[in-house]
Parts: sequence; structure tokens; C-alpha cells
Amino acid sequence: MADDVTFDGKVAIVTGAGGGLGRSHALLFAERGARVVVNDLGGSTDGSGASDSPADLVVKEILDAGGEAVANHDSVATPEGGQAIVDTAVEAFGTVDIVVNNAGFLRDQSFAKMTADNINAIVDVHLKGAFFVSRPAFAVMKEKGYGRFIHTTSGAGLFGNFGQANYAGAKMGLVGLSSVIAIEGQRSNINSNVIAPLARTRLTEELMGPLAEFVAPEQVSGLVAYLASEGCDLSHEVYSVGGGRIARVFVGLCNGWLAGKGVAPTPEDVIDHLDQIRDTDGFAIPFMATEEMISLGPLLRGED
Ligand code: NAI
Repeated sequence: MADDVTFDGKVAIVTGAGGGLGRSHALLFAERGARVVVNDLGGSTDGSGASDSPADLVVKEILDAGGEAVANHDSVATPEGGQAIVDTAVEAFGTVDIVVNNAGFLRDQSFAKMTADNINAIVDVHLKGAFFVSRPAFAVMKEKGYGRFIHTTSGAGLFGNFGQANYAGAKMGLVGLSSVIAIEGQRSNINSNVIAPLARTRLTEELMGPLAEFVAPEQVSGLVAYLASEGCDLSHEVYSVGGGRIARVFVGLCNGWLAGKGVAPTPEDVIDHLDQIRDTDGFAIPFMATEEMISLGPLLRGED
């Protein structure tokens, strides 16, 4: 059996923690000893409106259970909001160790009809929101040499989904953001990982049908807590998690086909070698883009 995962002395920010997955993560962090900033703007499922009460209610739940938490009601979707969320942690608890970027909403529309408003609102909250909260938190973490980020992508982002071009684009963008935070944070003991959850929340319960019964938010939070823990040295990774199933997802680079030293492949060469080019047997998972260049060097020089 593994040792208990605890967060004594650690400070966690969970965005969008007034309900659904964020609330579940915040409750688990608090139960395991973290001091928690419960951020939530309190709007509706399409991002309209605002209310202090969802965040305040979760803070009350934590305090009633003997934990430590403060509420923050700023929007993640502006640089000022992101800074204010991190400032709340620093002012209330002195620092920030963990950031879970979770806040968001949906504006589904077919791509042919998608309005600029619906693109901007979704990119602002999911992708830019993670930038705006993570950047000031990263500065604090870099200074002290410790930090853990968990970003929330989606199967829709990783694999695509009808009517969710705005959401999928923003959610896949988070994978790129997390990879660079992982690379730039490596020397400062700052890890960054991504989860693609599946859970019954107000955002999804109508879409899920009978599956809803089997996917509770609490079945996602254990992985989030592990990835946020001091003992976890994983970074730059992506996990699908829901209903108790946890599985790695990755962006891999296959072996491909090499035309030969100095050869410029013609379109016909591509057609002739498509099977090899598309073959997924054997692949690498580069930690950064330069790794691909380094491994390609000897091949292109004809040394391999
Ligand atoms: P939810 O609607 O219960 O939670 C999202 C929270 O974010 C809400 O409480 C909302 O008030 C808050 N929020 C929205 N805009 C905000 C802003 N600008 N600033 C601060 N807070 C804001 O939905 P759920 O399902 O818990 O979603 C959490 C995250 O998980 C989202 O990023 C969602 O896209 C993602 N996700 C959820 C899946 C699921 O199966 N529930 C599947 C894939 C991804």
C-alpha cells in the first residue's frame, strides 16, 4: 500500500470550484490538509451572469468540516482576474503550491455557424484563463522552487467532437501550455500535467444519458490529488479519467518513412509510402520539440 497523500502546509488554488469537478477537487485537497482558494465566478453553463454564492458555499463546507479555505470570485478570463486569484492565495496563506485550472463553460455551435463571440468567450475562459492564473502562480513557484499544475482538457479537445470547435481548440491548447510549463518549470521542481475528465456535472448530465450514473466527480479527484502531491514526479503528461478508469493519453511521434539523404519527396513518393508514414507501430514521446530535431540529425546525415 502507498503512503497516505497529504497536503499539510500546502496551498492550492482550484478555479471554478463552486460546483462539479472543481468542488470535488477542493474538498479533497482540504480534507487532506491543504489550505484552499475556492475560485468561482458563479455564472451559468454558458458563462453568463455571476454570483458569489457557489464559491462561498464550498468554503463553508470546507470550514464546517474543519478545513481551511477562502473564496475568490474573480473571473479567470482576464489577466487582472488571474492575478487577483493568485494574490488571494498569497494574502490569505502566504504562497501557492498547487494550481488546478478547471473553470469553464460551453458554447456549442456547429463550425459553419460559429460566431466570433462564441469563439472568443470559450478561448478566453478555458485557454487564456489557464494562462492568466498560471503565469503569476508560476512566478511565485519559480521563486521558491516548488509547484504543481493540473490543467483540465477534454476528450473533445484531444479527439474532437461535433459542435465543439471553439472548446476543442481551447482545450487542446492547454496541452501545449502544460508542456511548456513542464519544460520551463523542470529545473524549479514545478510539474505540469493535464487531465481529460469524464463526470456527471451540470455541464454534462443532459449529454451523458445512462452513463451519468457511473461517473461521479469524486472519481476524478483522486488522480488530481496524486498529480498535485509532493511525491509525484510526473510532468508533461495527459490522463483520461472518469468513472474510476484512469488511462494515459499521449502525443507520439512514429518512426515514419525516410526518403534518403538530401532527397525531396515528391507527392507520388508520399502516395507510395503512405503505409509506412502512417504506421503507428513504434513511436517516441518527445519531452520537447528539440528532441525530435536531435534524433532526426543522424538519420538525415545518413549515419543510421
Ligand atoms: P461546472 O459547470 O460544474 O463547473 C465549472 C465551474 O467553472 C462553474 O462552477 C462555473 O461557475 C465556473 N466558471 C465558469 N467561468 C468562470 C470564470 N470565468 N472564472 C471563474 N470560474 C468560472 O462543470 P464541470 O463539468 O465541473 O467542469 C469543470 C471543467 O472540466 C471544465 O473546464 C470542463 O470543460 C471540464 N470538463 C468536464 C467534463 C465532464 O465530463 N464534466 C468533460 C471534459 C472536460
